[in-house]
Amino acid sequence: MDEHAGVGIRRYEEDGAARSGARGRAGAGRARRSPWAVRLGGVTKSHGSGRAAVTALDDVTAELPYGTFTAVMGPSGSGKSTLLHCASGLERPDRGTVEIAGRDLGPLNERQRTELRRERVGFVFQGLNLLPALTVEQNITLPVRLAGRRLRLDSGWLDELLTRTGLADRRKHRPGELSGGQQQRVAIARALIARPEVVFADEPTGALDTASARNVLELLRQLVDDVGQTVLMVTHDPVAASYADAVLLLADGRVTDVLHRAPAVAIAERMTRLGA
Ligand SMILES: Nc1ncnc2c1ncn2[C@@H]1O[C@H](COP(=O)(O)OP(=O)(O)O)[C@@H](O)[C@H]1O
Ligand SMILES: [Mg+2]
Repeated sequence: MDEHAGVGIRRYEEDGAARSGARGRAGAGRARRSPWAVRLGGVTKSHGSGRAAVTALDDVTAELPYGTFTAVMGPSGSGKSTLLHCASGLERPDRGTVEIAGRDLGPLNERQRTELRRERVGFVFQGLNLLPALTVEQNITLPVRLAGRRLRLDSGWLDELLTRTGLADRRKHRPGELSGGQQQRVAIARALIARPEVVFADEPTGALDTASARNVLELLRQLVDDVGQTVLMVTHDPVAASYADAVLLLADGRVTDVLHRAPAVAIAERMTRLGA
């Protein structure tokens, strides 16, 4: 049963930055240093060295306004994961700049980058990587507890996330007692508990059936529209990408096209031309 069915997908306005005053915006109360939750400027990244070197990203510039949902698509090997890793501070670019909430990641040392990822960034992956021994509630609140005194649990926000994810009556359950779609919604709540500046999702619906995938995508869409969350999602599914405000198309490490408010058929057609 799809408990999010019937909720319309509100399309974004052209100027996402203008919507950043959305109710309960993620990162609320923090000084705003930039209109962009994430900004990549001329990011270039190679893997390997010498003749075996592969240019995974080639001079990528992209700006994610607060409160917008961006999808990244492209053929296998086009640099999608590398883009997500560079944008989230998991990998360092060879050239170019990455800013999260106006903070340049370049000068940060490893410890500072780890802190920034833990406190300002949320991650959702394809695999359902919850801790099986912990309850739903304990899984969701784990990032706050790991941060020790640096973050405080907001129990009102926890309750809201449990409601939004449709898990309010499952808070004492363990992941093994949940469906795949429910587990992924727990992972999304966990990614949001610290009110991150941005949530990075790498194929979050890749392991789900169609109905569960739609649930997860509608949840992400609603978090963008209602809470002003910023989301960057890698996907190979045009239907998933059609939930986004903008779709960045990657080919050979370059952004070849940006589609706005595109329906799935238009995205699929453009992907076909890229040879995906
Ligand atoms: N750790 C790595 N070592 C060597 N090559 C890599 C590594 N990670 C990615 N690559 C290469 O970089 C390119 C881009 O990879 P990736 O970002 O994973 O693309 P995608 O996610 O679009 O499939 C590919 O040619 C891939 O083989
Ligand atoms: Mg990948």
